Amino acid sequence: MPYAKIIGSGGYLPPRVVSNDELAADLATRQIETSDAWITERTGIRQRHIADPGVTSSQLAVKAAQQALEDAGISAEELDLIIVATSTPDFIFPSTACLVQAQLGNKGAAAFDVQAVCSGFVYALTTADSFIRAGRARHALVIGAEVFSSILDWNDRGTCVLFGDGAGAVVLSASEEPGILEAELNADGSLANILHVAGSVVDGQVTGDPFLRMDGQAVFKQAVTALAASAQSVCDKAGVSLEDIDWMVPHQANVRIINFLGRKLKLSDDKVIVTVDQHANTSAASVPLALDAARRDGRIRQGDLVLMQGVGGGFTWGSVLARM
Ligand code: ACO
Repeated sequence: MPYAKIIGSGGYLPPRVVSNDELAADLATRQIETSDAWITERTGIRQRHIADPGVTSSQLAVKAAQQALEDAGISAEELDLIIVATSTPDFIFPSTACLVQAQLGNKGAAAFDVQAVCSGFVYALTTADSFIRAGRARHALVIGAEVFSSILDWNDRGTCVLFGDGAGAVVLSASEEPGILEAELNADGSLANILHVAGSVVDGQVTGDPFLRMDGQAVFKQAVTALAASAQSVCDKAGVSLEDIDWMVPHQANVRIINFLGRKLKLSDDKVIVTVDQHANTSAASVPLALDAARRDGRIRQGDLVLMQGVGGGFTWGSVLARM
């Protein structure tokens, strides 16, 4: 049975950078009080990239995908599977993956979206791994892409300061060499109300609430508990110990969650990739963006053992353990 090996990665962030100070000044014009000090201390976030009006997830995804394909040294025509993880698709349908496929110039690959919010990338990666291991695909493109700014209530300081836009991508290929060693996905739908966008379009009208709502403290508690258990479980299944992990690439929601998790798993800080300070929380894009940043700056290298973890709305969570 072949392994699915990550052979390339890419990332794209929209050019407009909004610092905490700029965001605080903008919110102040609407009598909403926040500050760089509050945001930095509670979240570790210093800035976020925000897409211009009209920019879509598929546009960000294509740019990240092109970089990942170039890095992998394969052409778009060679792909036989394209999965996009997103909670901010361009349309109800066609899927963002089909839009990306057309823009990349591929015809014929299976293409579909995965909706698991901030866990979307690890869900999509696990799905692609399963296709490759089963012999149903040879070259897969897995993308996390979000224009999360479009579902934020910019009058709610408790949420709008936390997120940003962007896309990250990896190319997976069937390989005899070890690649993804183990993966585990979980969900608990009974916790849907701690983080949700409970709106829809019915008969041409928005029904419900189209903006993200969150019980921040409940999310914090669930995230650290679920991710610590998931990390241990995926390592046990793969027959490796947490100490063997070279790099942890956690979902980038909040530096306090990341630090808490690192301490719980007894991983030293210098093994944990952190981009939340620069990107804020880009939901499904956060893990592939962080992975790509660390591959490009030379920290994550061929042969390293990498634990990727996602957690988010649903409530969903999951881990992927990969030999690079
Ligand atoms: N600026 C200034 N004050 C603020 C802001 C803000 N942006 N947001 C909230 N406050 C205020 C609140 O109104 C409250 O004021 P009060 O005491 O007068 O009522 C005070 O700060 C404390 O609010 P809490 O919500 O209790 O703050 P907390 O310490 O829990 O921090 C946070 C909030 C950062 C959201 C925290 O709960 C957290 O990190 N939760 C994890 C959630 C997360 O990271 N979500 C990301 C999406 S989910 C995911 O990706 C998994």
